[in-house]
Amino acid sequence: MTRPRVLSGVQPTGALHLGNWLGAIRNWVELQNSHDTFVCVVDLHAITVPHDPAKLAGDSRTTAALYLACGMDPDRCSVFIQSEVSAHSELCWLLNCVTPLNWLERMIQFKEKSVKQGDNVSVGLLDYPVLMAADILLYDADLVPVGEDQKQHLELARDIAQQRINARFGSEERPVLKVPEPLILKEGARVMSLTDGRSKMSKSDPNEGSRITLLDPPEVINKKIKRAKTDPQRGLEFGNPDRPETDNLLGLYAILSGCGRDAAAEQCAEMGWGQFKPLLAEATVAALEPIQQRHRELMADPAELDRVLSSGRERAETVAQNTLERVRSAMGFAPRA
Ligand code: AMP
Ligand code: TRP
Repeated sequence: MTRPRVLSGVQPTGALHLGNWLGAIRNWVELQNSHDTFVCVVDLHAITVPHDPAKLAGDSRTTAALYLACGMDPDRCSVFIQSEVSAHSELCWLLNCVTPLNWLERMIQFKEKSVKQGDNVSVGLLDYPVLMAADILLYDADLVPVGEDQKQHLELARDIAQQRINARFGSEERPVLKVPEPLILKEGARVMSLTDGRSKMSKSDPNEGSRITLLDPPEVINKKIKRAKTDPQRGLEFGNPDRPETDNLLGLYAILSGCGRDAAAEQCAEMGWGQFKPLLAEATVAALEPIQQRHRELMADPAELDRVLSSGRERAETVAQNTLERVRSAMGFAPRA
């Protein structure tokens, strides 16, 4: 029996934050025990907005090291860098030629990001979801664990596979591509900004105080939590639409302390902010400490990281080439000699 397959990735733009960890990476760590798991650093996605060439390669390595530090185990999963497996770009082109332009124009993330880019919107930014579809479809992924914000991109990947490739170039009995399912867990799927409980924690928020990164030292974590937005009401609770910051901070505490939502709600029901914030800061520092320790060790041993990434790339390449060949052939290209 082959195990069901998982594929996911995070962009190496800016430091990974609690949202990336709790919404995505943490779920990968569980899945690698039961699934054939591929996780990549999506550096080709990182250049869809203006980027610093001096930092790209280093950021990709740091991100890969963070995957491992968060618990991805190279003996149980494949970790690789997207741009090193050229099949991603090739399949993206094939998919581009069958994807309607208006499917891309209605993507929420494109609309949001293109507003921020002003006059400088690249074709790559529009095409971002097709590259993401290629990432997923190349691995015949059954499951794609992501945060809530990626739901629409997952739908698009499914539509491309089903309607644009399988329906046109395959048959019911012999689909060309596997149609993937998203895996969006409730808890942690939408970690909100520390400075605005109504917008999500994001790498691109210009205010650093809005997010806690996985490599923030304890004093920075303490400071950010101390300054986090709250409301004048005493006592913490879940689900009050007028208190989004409270819901978010209590949710973080429930996950990071490990005590769970019910116990957290009970423990903090009467608590003032002066008591709660140090508690949350302590839980955050304690949860991140082992990740930071492991990350330091990995970054100090570049040869080991090289070894992990090149074996990940080899495994990825084998699967990806196979799928690419299948799509090429279905679309009418001759086999490569
Ligand atoms: P990105 O930072 O856009 O590369 O996102 C990488 C992964 O982290 C994706 O699976 C996102 O859905 C997830 N993610 C990003 N921001 C958040 C957030 N604030 N809460 C939960 N998940 C998130
Ligand atoms: N678009 C995703 C994000 O920003 C990153 C990503 C690229 C991805 N390719 C992927 C996630 C494939 C899952 C699977 O979060």
